[in-house]
Amino acid sequence: MEKNFKQVENAFRQKLQEVSEMKELEDIKVQFLGKKGELAQFMKQLKELSNEKKAEIGKGVNRLKVLFQEKIDLHREELKQQDYKQRMQKEWIDVTTDPYQTEPGSWHPVSLVQQKLEDSFMAMGFQVLDGPHIETEYYNFEALNIAAHHPARDMQDTFYFEDGHLLRTHTSPIQIRGMEKLTPPLRIVGPGKVFRCERTDASHDSCFHQFEGMMIDKDISVAHLIYFMKTMLGEIFESDVEVRLRPGYFPFVEPGFELDMRCLLCGGKGCKFCKKVGWIELIGCGMVHPNVLKAGRIDPTVYSGFAFGIGMDRLAMMKYDITDIRPLHGGNLSFTRCFAVQ
Ligand code: PHE
Repeated sequence: MEKNFKQVENAFRQKLQEVSEMKELEDIKVQFLGKKGELAQFMKQLKELSNEKKAEIGKGVNRLKVLFQEKIDLHREELKQQDYKQRMQKEWIDVTTDPYQTEPGSWHPVSLVQQKLEDSFMAMGFQVLDGPHIETEYYNFEALNIAAHHPARDMQDTFYFEDGHLLRTHTSPIQIRGMEKLTPPLRIVGPGKVFRCERTDASHDSCFHQFEGMMIDKDISVAHLIYFMKTMLGEIFESDVEVRLRPGYFPFVEPGFELDMRCLLCGGKGCKFCKKVGWIELIGCGMVHPNVLKAGRIDPTVYSGFAFGIGMDRLAMMKYDITDIRPLHGGNLSFTRCFAVQ
């Protein structure tokens, strides 16, 4: 036998050390483990040998087969790791930067409306509060005088978590949390995202933005409510607005109203925008229900208050003449940038 096992093993180890690419590794595999490879050469000689020798060679070949395969697999893994590391260094990208961005960012139309509302209410002595998007049934419904099987829950169908939490359907839970924390007299507003199980169309989306507020003091009446609503709309639309109240049902207020604004486009004559009625329905509002005051640990025999809620997406659409709600939530920067200078 020209070569013995030791020589083949050394040759293999030597070659393997020099391998730096996958292709070379595959070549070595063929050279040593292939059909015509080094180990196969040993087997060819078996015929001429004694049984004892055959067993010895067979054992030796098997040992090397296992050893080579193991080493090759190990080396393959190392090469893969090396390749991965090199690629990580070469192809590293910072996903947080925008390579095309050459201008500063701009405010989203809903944020612009929110800022305007916050500024206007802060100037009138209101505090801006925040609240969680994931709420309990208690804060979203029960504390707001909507009992478990009350049909009013159907109007605000939402997304439930397995543990009973839900995505808030309105910003009213902020009012309950606010009443719990503060003592009257109080003036609070709460802007934020809300969620409903709605089919999406030009004027509905499963996620939208509300702005709610509440004022609680002694002897608060509907006159206060009308004053603040008129002031708010005047600030947003930068003109004098005329409003009217119609009865409206919300379990957390009594009496409850829908507040309409005279259409600014046609001055009330009736146009496409106001659907020929001359008025635009904008705000849900009313005098806070005694049960809601009690849930907020406020004595309804001493204090009263008003509350209101307005859709900020709708306001933004009216203010900036946007006819479809969907681009507001589409994340398209060229759309948002249209509102940059305000
Ligand atoms: N939370 C009500 C809604 O989502 C709006 C509202 C707030 C109505 C406060 C009355 C008083 O529809």
